[in-house]
Amino acid sequence: MKVPFYDATREYALYKAEFDKAISGVIATGGFILGKQVQDFEEAVCKYTGAKYAAGVANGSDALVIASDILDFKNGAEILTPVFTFFASASCIARPGGKPVFCDVDEDTYCMDMRDAENRITGKTKGILPVHLFLQTADMTMCMEIAEKHHLAVLEDAAEAFGMRTLYKGEHKHAGLIGDFGVFSFFPTKTLGGYGDGGMIVTNNEELYQKAKSYRVHGSSKKYHHDHIGYNSRLDTLQAAILNVKLSHIDTAIQKRAEHATQYRELLKDIAEIKLPVITQNNKEVNYVFCIQAERRDALDNYLKSKEIGTSIYYPVPLHLQKCFEYLGYKKGDFPVAERLCGTVLALPLFPELTEDEVSFVGESIKAFYK
Ligand SMILES: Cc1ncc(COP(=O)(O)O)c(C=O)c1O
Repeated sequence: MKVPFYDATREYALYKAEFDKAISGVIATGGFILGKQVQDFEEAVCKYTGAKYAAGVANGSDALVIASDILDFKNGAEILTPVFTFFASASCIARPGGKPVFCDVDEDTYCMDMRDAENRITGKTKGILPVHLFLQTADMTMCMEIAEKHHLAVLEDAAEAFGMRTLYKGEHKHAGLIGDFGVFSFFPTKTLGGYGDGGMIVTNNEELYQKAKSYRVHGSSKKYHHDHIGYNSRLDTLQAAILNVKLSHIDTAIQKRAEHATQYRELLKDIAEIKLPVITQNNKEVNYVFCIQAERRDALDNYLKSKEIGTSIYYPVPLHLQKCFEYLGYKKGDFPVAERLCGTVLALPLFPELTEDEVSFVGESIKAFYK
């Protein structure tokens, strides 16, 4: 048996007629740039997440860049961000001259350690960029307490967090909707992924929304009139049409992911060499990535590959040890939890259309490796 890490073709086969109709509907009308389907999708995301406003952009990285720019995360501003995350969570700060101030992460949840973050606040700290990684959100209650106390803007990197909710002030709020801005990525492997790149900025603040909408079209609110120096970063209409279909099946997709995760947990629970991901009490998780911590990780990874099981290492190198961030002056040993995670994490295949037999084969193979 071969188990792919991810396979988009199975979902396409399942809903082929719906996808084909959505795609040909765009081509037939020619509304390729910010067509009706983009607006429909923005409205559908608002409805699903509870956001007041949503602006579709070209990808999640651009969503971070645009939101950072609007929040003034630049020109020497210090922004707290986790050291264990995808590169874009920090490059959006560094590229326009802001200073990413890295924070260690929590051993169980892999998300930003808010106590560590608070200890790194200086007179130059302007913002905080928590990342909701793999399964659940960062501790947004503590994040907002810190932000309010120190007057910091909050940009939530919810690129991986579509569907995740967390208890905040007595209510379950969708990821990305507690801070000033939140961003989603619709990269194909994401829980809500397109057939190419796509991203979105969400907010409950109308002024921020108007800016985001203008920044994605060169900073103009009226054609050829530019209030800001913006970007060319629009969600493609074809992607929006595809994402509308995917969003209509999202609850089923999330449920199937949860079933696979439960099966993995059952299969792997007695293996002493493996630590399973821990969900904190306040979170309604979505199993975007099922990442275990494994002893002899690289040997296990090679073994699974030899059995034609797809795996992935998110993330092999923490951001403070990336060559491009050498100038920030960090060194090995500065972030012990993140560094340990980089040597032990291993993501297993997880997408809705996996079969029970495939998950079972992965679990049994891991058992066999440690025997
Ligand atoms: C945490 C995080 N932030 C940002 C991004 C960037 O999103 P995109 O790939 O759509 O540019 C990703 C996606 O890979 C991500 O996982």
